[in-house]
Amino acid sequence: MELKNKHITIIGAGNLGLAITKGLLKSGLLQENKLTITKRKLDGLDQFVEKGIRVTSNNKEAAAQADIILLAVQPQQLSAVIEEIKDTLTNKLIISTLTGVKLHALQEYVGDTNQVVRAMPNTALAVQQSMTCISSNASKNNTQLVESIFAVLGKTIVIEDELMQAATVMGASGIAFWLRLVRATTQGGVQLGFDAPEAQKIAVQTCLGAASLLQNGSNHPESEIDKVTTPKGCTISGLNEMEHQGLSSALIQGLVTSFKKINEI
Ligand SMILES: NC(=O)c1ccc[n+]([C@@H]2O[C@H](COP(=O)([O-])OP(=O)(O)OC[C@H]3O[C@@H](n4cnc5c(N)ncnc54)[C@H](OP(=O)(O)O)[C@@H]3O)[C@@H](O)[C@H]2O)c1
Repeated sequence: MELKNKHITIIGAGNLGLAITKGLLKSGLLQENKLTITKRKLDGLDQFVEKGIRVTSNNKEAAAQADIILLAVQPQQLSAVIEEIKDTLTNKLIISTLTGVKLHALQEYVGDTNQVVRAMPNTALAVQQSMTCISSNASKNNTQLVESIFAVLGKTIVIEDELMQAATVMGASGIAFWLRLVRATTQGGVQLGFDAPEAQKIAVQTCLGAASLLQNGSNHPESEIDKVTTPKGCTISGLNEMEHQGLSSALIQGLVTSFKKINEI
């Protein structure tokens, strides 16, 4: 299935639904008149109407005309939405971004005549830097199609569905974890004499730089750390103090605690 000429309906034009809409518009992957977005209260969506996108509260009509339905409502809203659109669900590709709704449950909801894919992006969608983890019950072609949609919004990886909760913690909650590290180093910078905007600028760019050193996948973090830790120097002294205070341990335990929590919800 090629994306051009396919009609996409996004049900749930909230934070995520609109970020995906904006990314798709920017990408030129599909024409505006091939995109419909839905929510119950339509105020604030004029800019999308002006661009030629169909905006509606009628999920059933919007689902009926779609080849691809992207579900971006809150998990507790899923059953009501499915109830509304179930008569239209034949031969559709259905993408769910809903936290915690497993592929087999989704497949049961929508029936066997439809193909289902889960996508777990993060809020860096807004700047086309999302890490989107994808699990799929769909054909190879349709899985690649979903990857191509999220590839315009950042990086993608296809994983087993049983790893999706872990992916949610690392990728979606991970935004909060990394931002707290940026915040903490900014506060440290202020204590060392910078004003807050300067300290944040240095923290953000250093964080981006560190991540970029690993982005082609061939480097190990520790080999890059070795390059900046002179024997008896200031970097290794600071780093070891952070480890004495539990830096790596706190991060690992935080991830594991989030993972336990997500499995209880
Ligand atoms: N935000 C993230 O970083 C993130 C990351 C990964 C996954 N997710 C998942 O993505 C989903 C959406 O998250 P979000 O942050 O975008 O939530 P959100 O901002 O609350 O958006 C949900 C939207 O769904 C609409 N809605 C509710 N009932 C509807 C219905 N019956 N028909 C059509 N639209 C309906 C709501 O608008 P009305 O009330 O006007 O209908 C709202 O705009 C969630 O399941 C979340 O778990 C979010």
